[in-house]
Amino acid sequence: MFDLKGKVSIVTGAASGIGLATAEAFAAMGGKVVLSDYNVEGGKTEEKKLLDQGADVVFIAADVSKEEDVKNLVAETVKKYGRVDIIVNNAGIGVLAATHELTFEQYNKVISINQNGVFYGCKYAIREMLKTGGGSVVNVASILGFVGQAGAFAYNASKGAVNLMTKSLALEYAAKGIRVNSICPGYVESGMVNRAALGDYYDGLVAQHPVGRLGVPEEIAHGIVFLCENEFVTGLNLLVDGGYTAQ
Ligand code: NAI
Repeated sequence: MFDLKGKVSIVTGAASGIGLATAEAFAAMGGKVVLSDYNVEGGKTEEKKLLDQGADVVFIAADVSKEEDVKNLVAETVKKYGRVDIIVNNAGIGVLAATHELTFEQYNKVISINQNGVFYGCKYAIREMLKTGGGSVVNVASILGFVGQAGAFAYNASKGAVNLMTKSLALEYAAKGIRVNSICPGYVESGMVNRAALGDYYDGLVAQHPVGRLGVPEEIAHGIVFLCENEFVTGLNLLVDGGYTAQ
């Protein structure tokens, strides 16, 4: 099994869903893991559960849409653990709205979190990785960074940007030992996607996945682990989508 002993990871949006499953996977592999989220109560609850299991984790609050918060997140990580080997820029939100009725505030909120948050996470983590001679960045994009969806204008914009930001950074830092990849999940059961929240819309989503179900966070975490583990992989936008984009 991939060994993370002595390695330090930051996972944003780690209070729930894909981020939490990733933090749990990293902790199970013996890594030191910083769980971050703007949901302080949820983050602290998950921190306690993992500490009780003997994992080496800490929760540090940050709103990824605020550059100062992300700068502080990385600084506090270095203060506690001395380095940053991996960052998973996962925190994100979705908004569905008719674009001719979308307000700038709604649009900008999605871009601020999903796209700018990835910029800040990459910027400050890469600064630390340059000091230690390398590292791995995984940005959580989406199938909606590949294909359009009606009513998902801002989300499409943010995730498409994340996929190309990933390739740009991969080229910029490959020679410095820093690999940058993105993962592009299909619909996954999580805080934002579940039957209770989506009602009939949920069945429509299931029908769009040839495997006949939505994914689970652990399946996306598995892909993130692969991207961290395989040192010949950089600049990849890895689809883990139950066949959604094969159609
Ligand atoms: P989730 O809602 O379960 O988890 C998202 C986490 O991000 C939450 O804990 C939330 O508090 C946190 N968060 C939101 N805004 C934040 C901010 N400004 N600063 C810090 N933390 C913030 O959702 P899920 O599904 O686990 O989403 C994780 C990522 O996966 C997102 O980037 C999402 O766009 C992406 N994704 C999700 C898919 C799905 O179907 N669930 C499909 C494709 C991509």
